[in-house]
Amino acid sequence: MAELITKPKGTYDVLPSESYRWQYLESVLRKAASDFGYREIRFPTFEYTELFIRGVGDTTDVVQKEMFTFTDRGGRSITLRPEGTASVVRSFLENSLYGAGLPVKCFYIAPNFRGEQPQAGRYREFYQFGVEYLGSPCPSADAEVISLYATILERLGVKNIQLSINSIGCPECRPKFHAALRAYFESRQKELCPTCLDRLGRNPLRILDCKSPICKEIAQGAPSCLDHLCEECHEHFEKVKEMLAAMGIDFTVNPGIVRGLDYYTRTVFEFISTDLGAQSTVCGGGRYDGLIETLGGQPTPGLGFASGLERLLMVMDAQGIEIPKPEGCRIFLAALGEAAEVPVQKLVYELRKLGVKAERDTTGRGLKAQMKYADRLGAAYSMVIGDNELNAGIARIKDMSGGGVFDCPLNAEDIKKAVM
Ligand code: HAM
Repeated sequence: MAELITKPKGTYDVLPSESYRWQYLESVLRKAASDFGYREIRFPTFEYTELFIRGVGDTTDVVQKEMFTFTDRGGRSITLRPEGTASVVRSFLENSLYGAGLPVKCFYIAPNFRGEQPQAGRYREFYQFGVEYLGSPCPSADAEVISLYATILERLGVKNIQLSINSIGCPECRPKFHAALRAYFESRQKELCPTCLDRLGRNPLRILDCKSPICKEIAQGAPSCLDHLCEECHEHFEKVKEMLAAMGIDFTVNPGIVRGLDYYTRTVFEFISTDLGAQSTVCGGGRYDGLIETLGGQPTPGLGFASGLERLLMVMDAQGIEIPKPEGCRIFLAALGEAAEVPVQKLVYELRKLGVKAERDTTGRGLKAQMKYADRLGAAYSMVIGDNELNAGIARIKDMSGGGVFDCPLNAEDIKKAVM
């Protein structure tokens, strides 16, 4: 036998027996997005590498260490999408979506690729549900985006999720904050990890996001961005908080939330689960008022979030949330004898055309094995068709849940009426 080939590290299969869980989650996400006025956008799985270097930022871990990048046959550098925001903004600009008026509100459910060390809740290919809200500078947009995710959690029945928010300022106030950060970290320079030493020169904000325990501890004492906000950023943040409070959405302000991507400005937020291990952030997002300009557009504000579908399903599992099972087979038609083969095939086809989930055996099993198969399919009803039934034009339908038997004419319309 030939050697089996396995899936690449950090990937997973969604098996036919589990896919209903994903479909359910996606249906809740789509409905919530639509209720909040977002329309779906679809974009390529790969983009020119330059999009992510410029969009996500060359000081980020995602760009520095995690991208799946290769050169195509034409010698161009291509990258498997590590996140959706840059792609949405690229599409917004390339297709002049702003031409139809602002804001533009869109959502996506799409796979992303990051070459991280896999662990529970962290994969190399993972799905995100994301929304992007392009063209509004107002705090009401921040409040809306956050309230959409709060609604999703409520509709899924997910509990124990804490919303942390922060403001990391704008190009106006950031230089002063960066200077304060740099001065602080320079005073502790000897203790920083080598990556953070490099970050100190390039982007000291990234040090606040370092996973090394020592850097984390040093970061605890770092100056707070909230103490360095300009008047406008301060007012914006106050309004966001006021609106969240008015909507009854609980949050904590956490100046340690800086996010791992370079494009953020002003409001940033994370929804964190107490039921997951290390990978506890189920959703992250924020404003990126400079990104559209960075990617070649007119200055246009934007914001959004993305949530990992795997992590959402993990939280739902941890909390024992039941996902509705899809309907199984409605009626199983067993063929008894050679003469029944063609009529059964025809009837199953006609029932399916009428929208009835009908099944039959196609492996040449005997009657007993066919009925076992019907059980395995979870058929609600079964019908055995042999010479007698064919001659009479009537067959007996059995309610598989023990509800008895009854006769029914051998035609699709009557069977449908009997079992639906
Ligand atoms: P992010 O924080 O990089 O943000 O990812 C958002 C979410 O995607 C995370 O909170 C997590 O649920 C999930 N996620 C990220 N990496 C992995 C992984 N390796 N395995 C499994 N799940 C993962 C962004 O991607 C931004 N584009 C979000 C955004 C949209 N900001 C504004 N608009």
